[in-house]
Amino acid sequence: MNEVYLNGEFLAADKAQVSVFDRGFLLGDGVYEVIPVYAGVCFQLAGHLTRLQVSLDGVRMANPYTISQWQDIIEQLVERNGGGDQSVYLQVTRGVAPRDHVFPTNTTPTAFVMSNALHPVPEKYKTQGIAAITLQDIRWQNCNIKAITLLPNSLLKQQAQDAGAQEALLIRDGYLTEGAASNAYAVIDGTIYTAPKDEKVLPGITREVVIELAEKNNIPLVEQAVTEQQLQQADELWVSSSTKEVLPITILNGNKVGAGVPGVVWQQMDTLYQDYKKSGG
Ligand SMILES: Cc1ncc(COP(=O)(O)O)c(C=O)c1O
Repeated sequence: MNEVYLNGEFLAADKAQVSVFDRGFLLGDGVYEVIPVYAGVCFQLAGHLTRLQVSLDGVRMANPYTISQWQDIIEQLVERNGGGDQSVYLQVTRGVAPRDHVFPTNTTPTAFVMSNALHPVPEKYKTQGIAAITLQDIRWQNCNIKAITLLPNSLLKQQAQDAGAQEALLIRDGYLTEGAASNAYAVIDGTIYTAPKDEKVLPGITREVVIELAEKNNIPLVEQAVTEQQLQQADELWVSSSTKEVLPITILNGNKVGAGVPGVVWQQMDTLYQDYKKSGG
């Protein structure tokens, strides 16, 4: 049984309890992060903790800990749970208070961290690619905040699964924003396109790594959203996230993407990403 961290203590996962009056439970009033751990070391921890602060600021919630306190808690939990490859999930909610839409005063935030084994991405996702479908982006106007209120994302992802696909690519006002649980990329004539950082997408930490690697290796990349039509005709499509890394989409809405196999630009990026991971990021 893994241990978790809750409000100042490490305890067995089945002993951790939160009040039913927690605003996370009643109102979805909280933010979160997911951090991959390789060989016992957190990958891009600084980026995740910086984004946590941005999310907290975005919902006007105080950060219960400093960056170094978070680091200490996370590293301790990873060690207590045996090191190796893990996926750390942390969540901060506005805390326990009588139910009211208006923020409570003087409430202590609830801070929760868990970690689980990080399973490698299935090999066939890399050799054959994954399938995706396009769906309308039904989410709110602050997708840059990593909020725990994931009902739209969950509905979209379930729709993708019901259609035999692994991800939903989301369309807002005729443009590709991102995936239901990932950032998205289109490769057109050798240039990588990904939506710019604004309130329509989550500023993915993996996306930052992809941009950095493209820049360092002279692979053309522009932070520009593609239209739904460009998406249908792209040579390659990819998605990225902390736990799934960078994956090629080879089937979109039942049709082949490019030649229907993982593309050459993706292969180059995946090699760069794996090397970057091994170097400790
Ligand atoms: C909606 C959405 N966009 C993008 C991402 C990718 O972000 P990151 O690379 O930081 O995991 C995620 C991750 O879960 C996500 O849920």
